[in-house]
Amino acid sequence: MDIAALNDIALRMVTPGKGLLAADESFGTIGKRFDSINTENTEDNRRDWREMLFRTTRAMEDHVSGVILFDETLRQNAKDGTPLRKLIEDAGAIPGIKVDQGITPLAGRAGENITQGLDGLRERLAEYYELGARFAKWRAVIEISHPEQYVARTPTIGGIKANTHALGRYAALCQEAGIVPIVEPEVLMGGHHSIERCHEVTETTLNSLFTELYEQGVKLEGIILKPNMVVAGKKCFDQASVTEVAERTIKVLKDTVPAAVPGIAFLSGGQDNEIATEHLDMMNKIGGFPWKLTYSYGRALQQSTLFAWQGKAENYDAAQAAFNHRAHMNGLASLGQWSASQDAKAA
Ligand code: 13P
Repeated sequence: MDIAALNDIALRMVTPGKGLLAADESFGTIGKRFDSINTENTEDNRRDWREMLFRTTRAMEDHVSGVILFDETLRQNAKDGTPLRKLIEDAGAIPGIKVDQGITPLAGRAGENITQGLDGLRERLAEYYELGARFAKWRAVIEISHPEQYVARTPTIGGIKANTHALGRYAALCQEAGIVPIVEPEVLMGGHHSIERCHEVTETTLNSLFTELYEQGVKLEGIILKPNMVVAGKKCFDQASVTEVAERTIKVLKDTVPAAVPGIAFLSGGQDNEIATEHLDMMNKIGGFPWKLTYSYGRALQQSTLFAWQGKAENYDAAQAAFNHRAHMNGLASLGQWSASQDAKAA
């Protein structure tokens, strides 16, 4: 393993002012996104949508350090025959690949899931390297049960450990293949739980994760962590202020993430676009931590663009304008230089 080469890639992924575009929706997930704009989930539409994003020059060159792709996209060509991967590289960004194969119920653990995809992963990573991917992503999902659920309360320690163990094995295989692993343990924000409960579960999960990474010989200089922010569940009555989210998230990360990790790129997890930007900005305004903090957003980078596009070629320019704007705002947030007035002005 060439740890210096992995560290170089990881540092490029968190270049100040830039972050990651998570465009790795599986067939089912992109179908849900397209449903919201009454667009059919066909191979051509998936290509047109992603080609439009990757050809958005300002956003891509100035604010996207890398793009997480789905298997199909890494192998797909633009309408004129150019590999989509090449559009990303030409913009100075790094192509990456989602390598997990989704979640399945964890045996014997009601309400908990485990991420699949370790079998054959060494061979798949070798092929993805040949295809140009230089980083990968694996998402583990940790779900917090309803606060009043006392039986089958989740997550359990066993459920957390099974998921962080898989993340450790995935990360070790990536580094062996010369690929930087994005390590993503997502504590879901969909429930009724309080911000305190999210704080506690995120802390337990990250502690378990870094124990696994250590035990499996993963070199921390060559990973990127992709965590959730510490927020109250979407259905919780008490929603925290931006400052509280930022302070709690920094606190959990400081308590659990070693300084050797080059960067942390958050998922947006269902937060509204502007709020996801504002949270990141606030953390960078507060500062005082050893890692770069940036974005690896899917929905929070693409939603306004998707609505501007509506699956129609004639909306291409409007969609690119929306993407330029959102990417610019998040780029500013990664530097702690975002402002609500600037966001509203150009929207
Ligand atoms: P969201 O930002 O939409 O949560 O997606 C990021 C991602 O890649 C989740 O795995």
